[in-house]
Amino acid sequence: MIALVTGASSGIGKDLALNLSDLGYELILVARNKKKLNEVANECKTKVKTVAIDLSKEENCKELFKKYKNVDVLINNAGYGIFGEFNKTGLDDELNMIDLNIKAVHVLTKLYLNEMIKKDSGRILNVASSAAFLPGPLMSTYYSSKSYVFKLTTAIYEELRRIKSNVKVSVLCPGPVNTNFNDTAGVSFSVKGLDSDYVASYTIKKMFKDKLVIVPGFMNKLSVIGCKIAPLKILLKIDYNIQRKKEK
Ligand SMILES: NC(=O)c1ccc[n+]([C@@H]2O[C@H](COP(=O)([O-])OP(=O)(O)OC[C@H]3O[C@@H](n4cnc5c(N)ncnc54)[C@H](OP(=O)(O)O)[C@@H]3O)[C@@H](O)[C@H]2O)c1
Repeated sequence: MIALVTGASSGIGKDLALNLSDLGYELILVARNKKKLNEVANECKTKVKTVAIDLSKEENCKELFKKYKNVDVLINNAGYGIFGEFNKTGLDDELNMIDLNIKAVHVLTKLYLNEMIKKDSGRILNVASSAAFLPGPLMSTYYSSKSYVFKLTTAIYEELRRIKSNVKVSVLCPGPVNTNFNDTAGVSFSVKGLDSDYVASYTIKKMFKDKLVIVPGFMNKLSVIGCKIAPLKILLKIDYNIQRKKEK
């Protein structure tokens, strides 16, 4: 069995990869940093191939698929956030983030899903965020990108169910997790983050139970429920205040 994990050089992706290796999966690990990928590979118990590419480039996503078509599990995890008021953040930075957080997930999901449907087996886990349920002032583009990943995955789930496919899709929606995410986004969490090895082992367990939406952590589950019932304008005020506290 083979699993391909994007963003596997650190954080949640690295721990998802290690968990899958413990279960006996051979791995294809993708990220830009070859050295870090090789370090993760050395920690794995199974056979690993590392692919150092920038997934924000569409052609790289297509090349990756061409080279490694045959996977049983695809995990679209690579992603990052940008903090700041929408009128002040850089357009090029945001477009690059959209290319990674949305476009790469879209392209890889489509290509691998079609292949899996042909075989009538396989599974895809897309990493969104609890941000998918919030409007996200001060991180508007990041939150919107995760909303896209959530909607795309849940819609595909229903399409697969209607055709009685054995292909499974899940979407991971974590709250704060202790990884490099904060440094990349230039923020610090205003609440305590979960450990990424806990998030990864919980996720892998739920994914293999065919859970559609995976929300690790009790407080995160509560906040997702809160987001669904709170009036939008109140949610916006609360969310803005929480986000403001993240500023370094
Ligand atoms: N940490 C949190 O609180 C949190 C909460 C909810 C959701 N998430 C989501 O979880 C996912 C993983 O993030 P993380 O928290 O584990 O952060 P992380 O430690 O910064 O990991 C991000 C991973 O994505 C890779 N990556 C970044 N840009 C890339 C590119 N252009 N092409 C290929 N790979 C790229 C990074 O590797 P290279 O730098 O080597 O390319 C790294 O392996 C993200 O989608 C994030 O939005 C995180």
